[in-house]
Amino acid sequence: MKLPYAEPYRIKMIEEIHQSEPEQRKNWIKNAHFNLFNLKSSQVFIDLLTDSGTGAMSDKQWSALMSGDESYAGSRSFDELHQTVKTLTGFPFLLPTHQGRAAENILFSVLVKDGDFIPGNSHFDTTKGHIEMRKAHAIDCTIEKAFNVDDLFPFKGNIDLNKLEDVYKNNPKEKIPFCLITITCNSSGGQPVSLENIKAVKKLSDQYGIPVYFDAARFAENAYFIKTREKGQENRTIKEIAKEIFSYGDGMTMSSKKDGLVNIGGFIALNNEKVFQEASNFTIIFEGFITYGGMAGRDMAALAVGLNEATEFEYLESRISQVEYLGKKLMEYGVPIQKPIGGHAIFIDALKFLPHLKREEYPAQTLGIELYKEAGIRAVEIGTLLADRDPETRENRYPKLELLRLAIPRRTYTNNHMDYIAVALKNVFERRNEIKSGYKIIWEPAILRHFTVKLEEV
Ligand code: F0G
Repeated sequence: MKLPYAEPYRIKMIEEIHQSEPEQRKNWIKNAHFNLFNLKSSQVFIDLLTDSGTGAMSDKQWSALMSGDESYAGSRSFDELHQTVKTLTGFPFLLPTHQGRAAENILFSVLVKDGDFIPGNSHFDTTKGHIEMRKAHAIDCTIEKAFNVDDLFPFKGNIDLNKLEDVYKNNPKEKIPFCLITITCNSSGGQPVSLENIKAVKKLSDQYGIPVYFDAARFAENAYFIKTREKGQENRTIKEIAKEIFSYGDGMTMSSKKDGLVNIGGFIALNNEKVFQEASNFTIIFEGFITYGGMAGRDMAALAVGLNEATEFEYLESRISQVEYLGKKLMEYGVPIQKPIGGHAIFIDALKFLPHLKREEYPAQTLGIELYKEAGIRAVEIGTLLADRDPETRENRYPKLELLRLAIPRRTYTNNHMDYIAVALKNVFERRNEIKSGYKIIWEPAILRHFTVKLEEV
């Protein structure tokens, strides 16, 4: 008999989590103004809000923490991180930051001006926020297939080259500081970008003299999909593929809380010395001196180890198999999810799950609330609340997809937890017709409203 698959690690330390009663959850979510971000973690049994900074570190990372060098300038831990990033990405210049959005803030402070256009594949919400607060425009050039949840195309994060060329043709070069490729593409469902597409974007961008940058939060997961889905890539290592990906860019922003396997951290890595020098000034003002940029020395040390672990095939196979395990269970139960199954999360199609709800009653948020009430599981809406209002007209933006994301923290939950999640969703799915209405907004901030919005039952 063929041996079944098993995780390439064993568990050395545990953290208790607790169940609650349905009546308690009903009160808690009401007191939280029906915003899952307002719940206390103690009110949650399985937390799938995000895979960002919520994973488990390895014993080697914990040992690295103890040897961190906390010097303000010239820390040895910075050198370890710098060497690791150089080896993995080929980019010679490194600026640590406290997390991914801080890297965006610094890089965009250098590159993005009022009225600019930044084409890319479904920019992440903080990325878009940093672009729009500078009165520039994020232009989504993701391929149309990405918006059909049943299309099995293996690289639904890809950039549509015609859409990209339209942006390049119709705007002056000085107004397009760079093209941003997000790997994997979180907002369109944790979907990867193929190496072939990255190469083609680079070629086209070179023709127009436009730099290419990566939002590389989940670059290792993207490299795993290239290895397992793209013809001719199957015999290469993840590290070889990652290095090739980055060879087609001028730089990257990184949220180390994802594929850095740490609880906090980020960085910018760059080819261009002039951009590095300007970004260094912003780093000093916003984050800290350039050899720590808002990170403790020990966190840089743990990150250097984490980046190496995250780019090992065995780790990625176990990580992505677990997400796939949950996805397959949900498909068995008839729950409508985005296919093919992505890297870090399962995305439930709320428009198919609750087709009778009006768009303006936030179906994905409604589903998230029902899942919480059912089983104490916290997921996150990737739909109309997240898409926010048009900055000019202030009208709701209705994205093509209305999704509930179940983000799976790395090396944290077992497949028993996955079974529990699947059954909880099955139960909600079976009673979906009893969910007659959704929610309305009673208060919201000017931008990034999903974090703090207050809702009320319709
Ligand atoms: N880019 C992508 C693709 C992301 O998914 C995130 C964060 C960021 C940038 C910003 O990084 O959080 O370190 O400041 N995504 C988290 C999520 C929050 O839940 O998907 P950060």
